[in-house]
Order: sequence, then C-alpha cells, then structure tokens
Amino acid sequence: MKTTGGTDDQKRRAGERAAEAVDDGDVVGLGTGSTAAYAIRALGRAVDDGLDVVGVPTSFDSRQLAREVGVPLRALDEVERIDVAIDGADQLDSRLDAIKGGGAAHAREKVVDAAAERFVVVADPSKTAETLSRSVPVEVLPDARAAVERDVDALGGEPTLRRAERKDGPVVTDNGNVVLDCDFGAIAEPAALAADLAAVPGVVEHGLFVGLADAVYVGTDDGVEVRT
Ligand code: 5RP
Repeated sequence: MKTTGGTDDQKRRAGERAAEAVDDGDVVGLGTGSTAAYAIRALGRAVDDGLDVVGVPTSFDSRQLAREVGVPLRALDEVERIDVAIDGADQLDSRLDAIKGGGAAHAREKVVDAAAERFVVVADPSKTAETLSRSVPVEVLPDARAAVERDVDALGGEPTLRRAERKDGPVVTDNGNVVLDCDFGAIAEPAALAADLAAVPGVVEHGLFVGLADAVYVGTDDGVEVRT
C-alpha cells in the first residue's frame, strides 16, 4: 500500500524543516517513507557541513539511505537515548494521532518514535483528516494470519493481506512477518482500537500511533505549517 497524494515539494519542505530542528550532538530516529527521506538527505548535507549527529534507522530502507548520504548510524540497542525522531505518516487527525505502516515498517518505527524525547511527524496536506479512516496496517506472525484475521473481523474490521507489487506473494516485513491492512471505516476512538489490536495474539505491531507525536510539520505549497 503506497501512499501518495502530496507533491514532492510539500514533502521536501516538511522533511527539511524537521531536519533543521535537529541540534548538534542529537541522536535522531530516522523514519521511513518518501517524506522522512527528505529529512535524512537534509541531515546528510548538514553532517557534511559539520553537524555531529547519530541516526537510528527504523527500516532497511532508511538505513540504506542514511548510509548513502553519510549520516553516522547506530542500532537502537546501541544508544542510551533518542533525542528526536522524524517520521512520516499515512494519515493524521487533529489530535496528532496517526496511522503509519504504508511502508510496512511501523513495528520498528513505533519502537524508535516512542523512545524519542520528541517525535516529529512530517507530512503533506493530503495526509491530514479530522478523523482517522484509512486501513490500519497490522504486522502479523505468518502462522497467525488466519487467527488474526478472525479476531480483526470480530473487532469490526475487514483485513486484507498486503501483496507485493512486483512479485507474487505477500509483502514480507524487515522482521519476516506479513501485513494485514485492516479497514475499520472511521475510527472514532483510536486509543480503544489500538488497545484491542495490541491484545490480539499473533499481532506483532499495529499502525495506530496514538498519543505519540509531539509535533506535526505539514509541508504546503509555500511553507510549513507546524501543529502541536
Ligand atoms: C512507513 C510509514 C511511512 O512513514 C508512511 O507510509 C508515509 O510515507 P510517505 O512519506 O512516503 O507518504 O509509515 O511504514
């Protein structure tokens, strides 16, 4: 499930502005997706100019990009703190709750983003909504798929196995699991649904990020709107 809708310029403005908020000496969570990638590239340029930071990647892709642009890296278990995490989102509501996982990276993203002192979401205007309503990505142990599908159904959701775009078979996450995209329609109470999904055996992580974001940077056609 790829999410697009905003323009590259909107994403770039959001990502670059978030990177500007990184201070010398910071340990930075490096999110996944096309908007977070602009922040990683901007950090790479800042490192070239002398900024001293360490990045903690949230996915194979963000690690690869950070390596390419020269951001020094550590694994999550090699750092004692994360000062700020910069990550994208698939949908955001007015309370800054988010649905993530369009890139199937939400399990590691949630660990890194939740561990950060400050979690900044970078997005374009197409991601914003009054109420969350996109399908919620749920990473599932492969053997538990059918059981989780039944439980999601019982919670009022409609699960669809995410399939790889370019080859036969399901998307496999960096952790070796599969993803169910679960349509719950409009999500009136994200916290309650998050708790219900977290309690399902076989669910590794779901893409509802409730109460985690400290700020959202929305890139627009002529600037960046900061929501807190
Ligand atoms: C990956 C994510 C991404 O942050 C989300 O899909 C947004 O991506 P993009 O900035 O490319 O729209 O959650 O798991």
